[in-house]
Amino acid sequence: MRSVVPVTERVEETPTTVTLRFDYAAAAAPGQFVMIWVPGDDELPMSLSYTEGRSKGVTVKEMGSTSRNMQSIRPGTLVGIRGPYGNTFSLDPGRMLIVGGGSGAAVLAPAAEAVIARGAKVTVALGATRAPELLFRDRFRRMGARVEVSTDDGSEGYHGFVTHVADRLLGSEPFDAVWTCGPEVMMRKVVDSGSRHGVPVHCSVERHMKCALGMCDACALGPYHVCVDGPVFPAERLTPLGEFGGFHRDSSGRRVGP
Ligand SMILES: Cc1cc2nc3c(=O)[nH]c(=O)nc-3n(C[C@H](O)[C@H](O)[C@H](O)COP(=O)(O)OP(=O)(O)OC[C@H]3O[C@@H](n4cnc5c(N)ncnc54)[C@H](O)[C@@H]3O)c2cc1C
Ligand code: FES
Repeated sequence: MRSVVPVTERVEETPTTVTLRFDYAAAAAPGQFVMIWVPGDDELPMSLSYTEGRSKGVTVKEMGSTSRNMQSIRPGTLVGIRGPYGNTFSLDPGRMLIVGGGSGAAVLAPAAEAVIARGAKVTVALGATRAPELLFRDRFRRMGARVEVSTDDGSEGYHGFVTHVADRLLGSEPFDAVWTCGPEVMMRKVVDSGSRHGVPVHCSVERHMKCALGMCDACALGPYHVCVDGPVFPAERLTPLGEFGGFHRDSSGRRVGP
């Protein structure tokens, strides 16, 4: 489905993150993303941070020029939406550990809501650079998740990386599965912890996207197209790929990163 719709609501979630809500009737599931386009600017892939009903939403972190322009959109502005695309988290209820870094919480929040509704017991390890940047901390608490916070500067919760919190939790409590989204270097550490403690990990991965239909190769990650084979991948598909947690490719296919 594709449509041009007005933004109905704009919420400043943190000093650098804004949620835009819009009416979009297409069915969507947690983990999926849309391509969103602001007239006069580029189109970006954005995970759906609200997937239920007609009122969908995306939560945009300020990164470069396009995301900054998207953040400045006011209610009433028209945006182009196509999708949703990609696969979803498997919502089998169990003892879930969800590890979110920065804006990664955007895709994890609707997944946590859906799996809690199916009876799962969810613990969220939520990390940010500083307390005001803890995205969806209160939303996770309201849905009934236990939330363990970490901040790089020690302004709230554990003083240090969220990967340390995740590793401690995995070493001290039984979990059936881990879902993670955030910087790839963070997800790589979560995958290593999961593998040490024998718990399967699924990662939501980002790549440059153009068609979102599996046709242009822009989002290639090893043998996979992130737009159709992902964005949610079991860790065992990612760990053999040198580029997971290593490098990615820009719009012209050039290697970026180490
Ligand atoms: C599946 C998926 C889900 C995502 N979900 C979110 C989310 O929920 N919240 C969030 O804040 N970000 C999300 N992103 C990242 C987002 O799409 C952009 O990469 C990020 O906002 C940076 O774009 P920019 O224009 O601000 O950066 P810049 O570095 O300024 O971008 C440089 C140029 O590249 C283009 N560009 C940048 N990234 C992409 C991309 N991934 N695909 C195509 N063109 C791109 C820009 O439009 C611009 O023309 C997601 C990415 C993917 C692949
Ligand atoms: S964005 Fe074109 S193949 Fe994935």
